[in-house]
Amino acid sequence: MEIILQTKKLNKQYGSIKAVNDLDFTIRKGEIFGILGPNGSGKTTTLGMALGVTLPQSGSFEWFEGKYGKNSRTKVGAILESPIFYPYMSALDNLKIVAKIKKQNYSDIDRVLKHVELYDRRKSPFKTFSLGMKQRLAIAAALIGNPEALILDEPTNGLDPQGIADIRELVLRTAAEGVTIILASHLLDEVQKVCSHVMILNKGNRLAIGKVDEILQEKNILEIKSENMTDLKNTISTFDDIRSIKEEDEKLLIELSPELSADIINKRLMKKGISLSHLFMKEKSLEKFFLEILKKENV
Ligand SMILES: Nc1ncnc2c1ncn2[C@@H]1O[C@H](COP(=O)(O)OP(=O)(O)O)[C@@H](O)[C@H]1O
Ligand SMILES: [Mg+2]
Repeated sequence: MEIILQTKKLNKQYGSIKAVNDLDFTIRKGEIFGILGPNGSGKTTTLGMALGVTLPQSGSFEWFEGKYGKNSRTKVGAILESPIFYPYMSALDNLKIVAKIKKQNYSDIDRVLKHVELYDRRKSPFKTFSLGMKQRLAIAAALIGNPEALILDEPTNGLDPQGIADIRELVLRTAAEGVTIILASHLLDEVQKVCSHVMILNKGNRLAIGKVDEILQEKNILEIKSENMTDLKNTISTFDDIRSIKEEDEKLLIELSPELSADIINKRLMKKGISLSHLFMKEKSLEKFFLEILKKENV
C-alpha cells in the first residue's frame, strides 16, 4: 500500500525535556492510525512536526512518498488545537472563509457540511453550537479541498458521551471514503474502538507499533511441554476453549480464553494421563504493563 507518512529518527527537545526521541513510523493509505500515549508523551509534538508547525531538532519525514513535493501540506487536513471560528457568523459563512484561505471554491462546502451532519444547521451562528457540533464543524473545515489524510489531535476531549459517539462514527465514515486518518489520543478505549493501527508513545519513545488487534489485544498465552509432544498436541487440540496453538522451540504456546487458567489446563491434561514437564504463563510484555498504566489513567 502507498505510504502516506513516513518519519525517520524524528527528534524534538524542549530544554532538558526530550519530547520526541528518534521516532520512526510509517502510515499507509487507508489506515486509521492511532498515536496512543499519556499526557506529555509527545503526540502533539509529533503531529506538529509532521505538519510543519514545529521544527524538528533532527530527523526527517515525508508525506505521500514525495509525490506532491512542496504541495503535500494541501493534501493533509488537520485539527491540532480548537479551531478558531467567528462566533457570530453562521457555520456556512465560517466555512466560506476557510475555503478562501485554502484557495478552494465554495462548491465543496455543502459536501463537507452534509458529511459531518451539520447541513441543516448551516445558517445557525457558530456560538449556538454544542461542543460536539463545533468539533464536527472543525472536521468539516479540515475536509474542505478533499485531503488524502486527516489529522485529529484528541478529537473527543471535553465531549459528552453522545458527542464522543458522533465523532467516532464520523471518523469511521470519513475513513470509509478513503481518507487516511491519523488520530492522537490518551484514551485506550478510543483507539481500540476506531483505529486499525496504533503506535504507543511514552516520554517521546515508541513502545510498540502495529495492528490494533495485535498490539492492544490482551492475550493469555500458556507455554507447555511434555515428554510426548504428539500426545500433548493431539489432546490440547480437542479442547475447544483454546483459541490458538503454536509450536515454538519444542514447546506448545496455547492461547487461552479468559476464563481458563494454567491450573485448569494442567488438571485436564492429568485426567487424560498427560503430565507436563514445563508449564509457564507467559509474562506480560512491556506494552501490556504500559497499557495497564493507561487504563488506570483513564479511570
Ligand atoms: N512549546 C513547548 N515548550 C516546552 N515544552 C513543551 C512544549 N510543547 C510540548 N512540550 C513538552 O514536551 C512534552 C511532550 O508534549 P506533547 O507533545 O504536548 O505531549 P502530548 O500531546 O502527548 O500530551 C511534554 O513534556 C511537554 O511539556
Ligand atoms: Mg497533545
